[in-house]
Amino acid sequence: MSAKRSSPLRVAVLASGRGSNLQAIIDAIEGGQVQAQIVAVISNKKDAVALQRARAHGLPDLFVDPKPFAGRPDSREAYDGALLEILQQRNVELVLLAGYMKIVTAVLVNAFASRMMNIHPSLLPSFPGLEVQKKAIDWGCKLSGCTVHFVTEGVDEGPIILQGAVPVLDGDTPETLAARILEQEHKIYPRAVQLFAEGRLKVDGRRVLIDDGKPVGEAIISSS
Ligand code: GAR
Repeated sequence: MSAKRSSPLRVAVLASGRGSNLQAIIDAIEGGQVQAQIVAVISNKKDAVALQRARAHGLPDLFVDPKPFAGRPDSREAYDGALLEILQQRNVELVLLAGYMKIVTAVLVNAFASRMMNIHPSLLPSFPGLEVQKKAIDWGCKLSGCTVHFVTEGVDEGPIILQGAVPVLDGDTPETLAARILEQEHKIYPRAVQLFAEGRLKVDGRRVLIDDGKPVGEAIISSS
């Protein structure tokens, strides 16, 4: 797990929507802050803006239609099996879920154990799931943020790699808070990828350590 990876690291991004985190990673790669190459951008949604972003940067984009798998008792596993084939064919070393709104099954989780990351717009373990910015406001939180974590079978449960924190302001709506959090997402996701590319992440139970033995999950506090 702490071993050095290919240079540049071979990355696939799974995305269902707008793809702003994908864009942040593309920009960080193009800007030289992240030593990786995106070898596939895959979506379960044909019209995902993420696929358009991939095309605009000359990256291979693939729509994998869930419909042919629907109705089978193992539809989710079968779909993930199709994704796994693509990922293995392309020798993918790290899978990034970036606004991928489909629960991944053991088929992918086991094949990419400690090699698949997700970004989530809350300070996990608070508020896993959906509509989490609204939940943070409704709960009266003073801080919220985002988390990059390794993916395990439990939704939003895997070992935390990095977190970014932002204040929750009195006048916040879910939209204004989401926008503030998103700025942090675009910082910590590329950073987590680069730490992985450098072979510096080591999973020790629930904790992710950097190769000097220090936790890397330090909070980045934003005053904006
Ligand atoms: C991001 O805020 C990401 O954290 C969230 O979806 C958004 C995708 O935005 N992911 C989840 O809620 C996953 N549980 P993007 O498509 O612009 O990157």
